[in-house]
This record gives sequence, structure tokens and C-alpha cells, in this order.
Amino acid sequence: MSRKLFVTTALPYANAPFHIGHIMEYIQADIWVRYQRMQKDEGRQREVYFVGADDVHGAPIMIAAEKAGKSPAEFVAGIAAGRAAHLDGFLIKFDNWHSTDGPENHELSKSIYKRLREKGLIYTKTIEQFFDPVKSMFLPDRYIKGECPKCGAKDQYGDSCEVCSSVYTPTELNRPYSVLTGATPVMKQSEHYFFKLSDPQCTDFLKAWTLGQGSGRSRLQQEVANKAREWLGGDGDKALSDWDISRDAPYFGIEIPDAPGKFFYVWLDAPIGYLASLKNLFNKKGMDFDAFMADPETEQYHFIGKDIIYFHTLFWPAMLHFADRKVPDNVFVHGFVTVDGEKMSKSRGTGISPLRYLEIGMNPEWLRYYLAAKLTDRVEDIDFTGEDFIARVNADLIGKYVNIASRAAGFITKRFGGQLKLGTDATEVPVLKSLRAASEEISNCFERREYGRALRQIMHLADEVNVYVDANKPWVLAKDPTQSDNLQQVCSRLLEAFRILTVYLKPVLPAIAEKVEQFLNIAPLQWDSVGTALPDGHTINTYQHLMQRVDQKMLDALFEKPKAEEPAKAATVKGKPASQSTASTESTSNIEPLPVPESFEPLAEEITIDDFAKVDMRVGKIVDCNYVEGAKKLLRLSVDLGEGRIRNIFSGIRSAYRPEDLVGKLTVVVANLAPRKMKFGVSEGMVMAASADGDDGIYLLEPMSGAKPGMRLS
Ligand code: 2FM
Ligand code: ZN
Repeated sequence: MSRKLFVTTALPYANAPFHIGHIMEYIQADIWVRYQRMQKDEGRQREVYFVGADDVHGAPIMIAAEKAGKSPAEFVAGIAAGRAAHLDGFLIKFDNWHSTDGPENHELSKSIYKRLREKGLIYTKTIEQFFDPVKSMFLPDRYIKGECPKCGAKDQYGDSCEVCSSVYTPTELNRPYSVLTGATPVMKQSEHYFFKLSDPQCTDFLKAWTLGQGSGRSRLQQEVANKAREWLGGDGDKALSDWDISRDAPYFGIEIPDAPGKFFYVWLDAPIGYLASLKNLFNKKGMDFDAFMADPETEQYHFIGKDIIYFHTLFWPAMLHFADRKVPDNVFVHGFVTVDGEKMSKSRGTGISPLRYLEIGMNPEWLRYYLAAKLTDRVEDIDFTGEDFIARVNADLIGKYVNIASRAAGFITKRFGGQLKLGTDATEVPVLKSLRAASEEISNCFERREYGRALRQIMHLADEVNVYVDANKPWVLAKDPTQSDNLQQVCSRLLEAFRILTVYLKPVLPAIAEKVEQFLNIAPLQWDSVGTALPDGHTINTYQHLMQRVDQKMLDALFEKPKAEEPAKAATVKGKPASQSTASTESTSNIEPLPVPESFEPLAEEITIDDFAKVDMRVGKIVDCNYVEGAKKLLRLSVDLGEGRIRNIFSGIRSAYRPEDLVGKLTVVVANLAPRKMKFGVSEGMVMAASADGDDGIYLLEPMSGAKPGMRLS
């Protein structure tokens, strides 16, 4: 039976850009999804749908939008616009990213609510709440402050005192005031809608769902099950409190059917946003969402943080079950990210800004690897320390893994025309045997989200490969002409070992894996590729540098404290200003530049802005790409610049890219370069690519997400 998976991460509030905690969760889930996508069930590719969305409703977002002088929809659109840069930057590949304000969520939330109402699980009750008479709105607890009823401390929140730690209700505060207007709130009555969680059928269901043994796959983590047991009162009769699911206007949310002026509390429609994003994806693909969700074989998993267990193990499964829908098979809970053992705090400068990480040129796969190396299946916090990061990435990824390829590939290319010859007894070579034998155990680790354990095992295997290198010393064999066959065999076996290690690392390091596939000249690696060795006579492509070492200077730049009162500085990309319009020497002075590599080419003669304006560079879409017969270095690209025709452009990038990998990609074209007649035809422009002396790589430029064909670079 082929597995079908529906996987989500928690939907982030659309009131701020992602922080490192979000990125960690997405990386954890993305690794799991990429691992699943490499699997086949009975020869068929496993079906996986991985979706996210912005959680846009609720009072805090409505209030933040008002402060920013925007409508809530405009405000959340601004936040949503920044999502792709983070997700693409860290190679997090959702199948869909949607919004809880999309029509699918309105429709699904109303339909689930109506079903619960039909089941007699919804009722109304009049309650009394603080109301801001100036703003004419009911105040959520966090918008009320006052003096602590126990110790008298001023400016304490409505639920607990930060000075004496006592807990109370907002009505107990002395001299309460509205955080929004400073007005003294008044008590006002209002009718609220409740979900009857206290109903014995709800408690019975939740006990069975949270504490039931289920299959191996559906059992909650121990810590999560313990929490649920506590909330549900163990085997006793403790009933859950009913859940207040309505909020009064003004509220940015979904209006409750047959209840004008009443809206669903954001936590009711937020998880339904998981379904809404999947439905939106299925609609786009022309697939049947209802059939997929009704299929008992479909497995549903949510990756979440430890702060929202309550919502995901009580409210969410109960809502789904009593609305006659599929309930989650499991929730996968993780801890928080700490930095040097401390909870992150922007003011103390201990946070890690994901965008800054990318802007200073740090490699996203370093972070993916580092976090994965620390992740387990338990609800534990993950600590990031700079020294540990450098040591782990440089020692493991460069020292143990990448070096294997760089040590073997040169000999194969230069001495043997790129041809491999593993020899007939290759399957018996102990190091290759133990690499293959580890497949199932490593696979199980990924399945169970024991990534740290998986990576330890992979690095242990890499150690064995390096022992093989040292025992066979290809650099010594290379000096002895009588050992030529042996040299080819040793290096071929090393590349085969490297290929297998790459299979195991692919969920964590997808970009490296893609480069390796290109360099080894092989189809995209699947998990079962482990079992099929590279055949004798197979030809590899020239080795491209796979990964740089981490430099302490980058970590220093990453952890530099933000300067008080100053807006975020324009960051630098590889020592150069990221944006011409805002950058100045001053604005980048607080970031240490990278060391100057030997290959750095001196800058060309200075030009004026008018000189620059003569060059018309446009975003172009590569709609087709082919080898050029008789040209070793060239590819023929068909590029659409949005000008109503397709241009033919020859480019000397054949050593770096396979045509099929470029089709569909965006790049940058010098569009007003005079057409050039070549032996193979006319080239109507030039695609932009980066290269440097001493590095035989060629790197085609690709604009960040959102760019469209025809856009001009300036
Ligand atoms: O805690 C949060 O950031 C919420 N926005 C998570 C919602 S998860 C799901 F329910 F949508
Ligand atoms: Zn107090």
C-alpha cells in the first residue's frame, strides 16, 4: 500500500517576519518531508503534501494594522510578501503557502462549526468582560493592565504579576486601564458561543485519542501524552472546561453563521487553515480534496512547538472528530531554540535573524545540518552556540564528507577522462558494504525524526570512508604509473561511497545533493539508489566546489548587537552592499567584511550612472535549453524576456549545468547587447553568470522569488 501524507507546520501569526524558531520548525518538517519524498511504496513514489499558511486573524493583528495605518488585509499582505525570501533562502519547500483569510478557510470553518452545532456541542452564554469605552471594543486580557492585587506592583498584565508571580483574573486588578487608550475599562455583558468540551463524549474521545496506544506511528511523544493526561485528569473524572469560541466585533476574523457581529476566535479557524491550504492546493491541481481527506489511508501530521500543545491535542482533534472529519495521526512537538543556553531576546542581542544570516552570505545548509544534528524526537530545546556551529559544520561537512569527493574526483577527471571503474568485486569492499547495510537504520532514524542520531551514524560511515582513503593513499598511487588501474578503482569506489553518503544526507542538504547529482552525472537520488552502484564506464562531470568552510567572521557579524534606535542596517552580501539605493560605507561599517580571497579580481575602472544606464539588463525565463552539437562549452538557451518573442542565446555554461535543470528558471540577460553571429547561429543577448580565477565553477544568476520576465535591473 502506498502511503499518502498530509504534513503541516504551525501557521505563523502574520504580525512579524519569521524568527529563528519558525525556521527551525520548518527545517525539521522539510527534512522529514524530503525524506518521505525519497521513498517508494511498492515501486511507487510516496505521495506527500506539505503546506503552510499565514495565521492572519485576531485582535493583535487588527490592532497592529491600525497602528500602521493599514487595513488588516493590507498589513498581513505586507508580512506575507516577506515569507518567500526566508523559505527559499533556507531551502524549505512547501507545496503551498496560503492564508487563513482565504475563501477555503471561511467555508471550511463555517461548515465545521455548523456540524458541531448540529451535534449539540455549541451553546451560548452571556458573560461579562472588560470593555474599552473609548475604543468601543471588548479587551483581550493582554490589553488590560493595572496594579497587582497581591503586591501592588504597577503596570501588571491582567493574568499574572511579573513581580510577585501571583496569578489572578483581570477583574481582580486594582486601577485597571486599557493598554490601547489608557481609559478605565468598564464591565459589559455579551453573548458568547462555546464549544462543549465538558461533554463526556468529548472527554472520552480525547482520552482515547491522546492516551490510546494506536499504531507505532500515531502514538504521541511521551512528554506530550503526559501533558494530555494531566489536562484530562488521568483516569479520573476531571472534565475539561468549555471553550469560548466567539469574539465580538470589531474583530478581524470569520463571521459566525447566523450570528451577526460575532466572529470565530482566531484559534478556532487557525488550525482549520491547515485544511484550507491543502484544499487550495488541490483546487489548483484539479484534485479532489474531499476524497483525499476521506481516505482512511491518508495520514495527517502537524509539526508544532511545545507552547501550543493544548490547542493541538485537545481542541483540534475534538473539533475534527465531532465534525465527522479525519483526526490527526500525530502531532510532532519540538522545543525552542536557545542561543548560548539563553532564551532569545532581541534587546539583549542574542537572537539570530534568519534574514541577516542569509544576507551576510551564510550557507543555509550549514544551519540545516547544524539544527538537524541536534534534533531528536523529544520535546527538547535546541541550543545554538557559535563555536559549536563552526566546529560541527567544518569538521563534519567539509572535513569528513565533502573532502571525500574533492580528493577522488580530480584524479578521475584528469587521468581517466572522467570514467569510473569500480571493478567486479566492488560489492565485497567492506566500506561499501557497511555503507549499504546502514540504509534501513538511517531510514528509520529519519522516519522517527531522530535526525541527530541519523547524522551521527552517517558521519561515522564517512569516517570509515576516510580510513579507506588513508589506507589506499590515492595521491601515492598517482605517482606510480604501474598503479594506474588501482588508482582508478580506489577513486571510483570513493565516489561510489560519496554517492551513498549523499543519498543519506539529501533530506538535510538538498542543494548539495543536487550539485552532486550533476557532478556525478546521475538522475536525482532516491533512497533505493543506495542499492544500485555506479556502473563501470560511467562518466562523471568535472568536480564543482561543493561547500565553503564557516568563517568566524560571519558568526561575529551574525551575533553583532543591533544598534539601539537605529533601523535595521543595510546588510552586505559577500562584503558588498545589498542594495545600491540605501547602502553607504557608513551603513555597512558595523559588519566585518569577509577575508579577500586570492582569486579576487580587481575592480574595473569606475563608471558613471549614465554609463551604467546604457546596459539594459532584464529578467528572463529560460523556456528551453539544449546542448549544441560540436560545441563543448556551450548551451543554447531559449529565453523569454516578456517582449513577445523568444530569444536565442548561446552561453558557455555547459560544464556547470544540465539543460533540463535550467528549463523554467529565471535568470538575468543583457538585453541590448548587439546580436553576435556565431558558428552555431546568432546569439541575441548574454546571460549573466559569476566566475572567478582558481574556481572552475560558473554560477548562473537567478533573481529572488517574485521577479518576472521583462523586469529591468537597476
Ligand atoms: O502560535 C502561533 O504562532 C499560532 N499562530 C499557531 C497556529 S497553528 C495552527 F493552529 F494554525
Ligand atoms: Zn504582584
